[in-house]
Amino acid sequence: MKKFLSILFTAFMALSLTACGGAAGQSADTQQNAQAKQAQPQTEGKKVLVAYFSYTGTTEKVAQVIQSKTGGDLFKIETATPYSNVYREVTEVAKQEKADNARPALKNTVSDMAQYDVVFVGYPIWWYTAPMAIATFADSYDFSGKTVITFCTSGGSPISDSTPDMKTWFKGANVVEGIRAYANDAASTERWLERLGY
Ligand SMILES: Cc1cc2nc3c(=O)[nH]c(=O)nc-3n(C[C@H](O)[C@H](O)[C@H](O)COP(=O)(O)O)c2cc1C
Repeated sequence: MKKFLSILFTAFMALSLTACGGAAGQSADTQQNAQAKQAQPQTEGKKVLVAYFSYTGTTEKVAQVIQSKTGGDLFKIETATPYSNVYREVTEVAKQEKADNARPALKNTVSDMAQYDVVFVGYPIWWYTAPMAIATFADSYDFSGKTVITFCTSGGSPISDSTPDMKTWFKGANVVEGIRAYANDAASTERWLERLGY
């Protein structure tokens, strides 16, 4: 089973790299363009928080690009009990957390969530959705009336896989599906943000 998982995620990574450099990446970008045009959240005068969870640092790099371009505040979502450094162990723990609909305790809190109008929420895709730490984050604050813009990184799974859960978890928020981003392609992330008005 573990060997299968390892092969699966390696395959995700290979797909990801192909999509980045080739026509598939351009086509995804065009789709994202259309989605961003539909969404068009108001950005003028709105205070931004960029909250993210990242296990191996990929999503963190994207979050930094978004923070820099939007001028928002950056918040790292971390679990109170850190995940193992052993990748295969994390895949098993994460799978169980998803099956249990768990809410792993978080290490820190946003000091004044009420001040933010727009919250970017970023995460790696874990088992075809967001890590359960994102559900804990969603439960921890009142998001009603806020705009939540999602972004993710993954080995190949699209962000749309996580969108139903994000809409369920962030109750009362206007959840805008963002992009599956690439840590090594800040320009694409910046173009997406420009389309959103940043
Ligand atoms: C527990 C776990 C589950 C994962 N599940 C998926 C998945 O379902 N689909 C996918 O494409 N990639 C999956 N991946 C790969 C990560 O989404 C990908 O490597 C991501 O870019 C890592 O981001 P990070 O460095 O911010 O943690 C998984 C990785 C881990 C550790």
